[in-house]
Amino acid sequence: MKRFSYFTEAASASTPLAMVDSLNSSGLDADFWEGRYQAGTDRWDLGQPAPPFVSLLASDHAPQPGHIAVLGAGRGHDALLFAAAGFEVIGFDFAPSAIAAANQAAADRQLPAQFLSRDIFTLPNEFPSTFDYVLEHTCFCAITPEQRSDYVQLVASILRPGGELLALFWAHDRPGGPPYGVTVEELYQRFLAQFEIVSFELATNSIESRSQQEYLARLKVKA
Ligand SMILES: C[S@@+](CC[C@H](N)C(=O)[O-])C[C@H]1O[C@@H](n2cnc3c(N)ncnc32)[C@H](O)[C@@H]1O
Repeated sequence: MKRFSYFTEAASASTPLAMVDSLNSSGLDADFWEGRYQAGTDRWDLGQPAPPFVSLLASDHAPQPGHIAVLGAGRGHDALLFAAAGFEVIGFDFAPSAIAAANQAAADRQLPAQFLSRDIFTLPNEFPSTFDYVLEHTCFCAITPEQRSDYVQLVASILRPGGELLALFWAHDRPGGPPYGVTVEELYQRFLAQFEIVSFELATNSIESRSQQEYLARLKVKA
């Protein structure tokens, strides 16, 4: 079976699929992701912010600037978009190459964003009820499906009461992963116990390979 995905395609260049499968069953750790950055097989990286976030911030219903956490921030393209728009940004990732590149980009552009090396699942202890916003882009699809309940819990935990998750969810149906597929129904089922929908729309300006599969969502944590 052809397992088409940019993550598994990338991994297959240097990593046997059997190894990817065993990593999937035990979770994809920092070494796995760091290896992808070091091998240059990081094909998820757009080299720019996701266009739906650019449109959101330019719209008349843009979120007001506030304190925002960016999960699995990678090289920081989305985080720096929000920093340039006046948000106070902390990006989190556990791949050292990503953190170094993001901090360098922030310094080069003189933007007030910081990027910290953390496993996102440790954040509730360090940042309880802290952020006005959490930003999600290709982190939910990068963790294993078994980690999704913990992900929802961690987002709810680090938001202040009434804070919002700003998410671009990639709802594809390809087998395997990462990136792991998800349905809109599963997203609703997982998030709506703890969040209420502010907006949830099919993105209209996704990159071509994710067109008609991305949903731009604003989900407010229930008090
Ligand atoms: C597919 S990449 C997306 C990066 C970035 N959001 C982008 O769109 O370019 C997933 C990122 O999440 C990070 N990541 C995955 N699991 C993580 C975890 N448990 N804690 C911290 N970072 C994690 C990886 O290191 C990687 O940089």
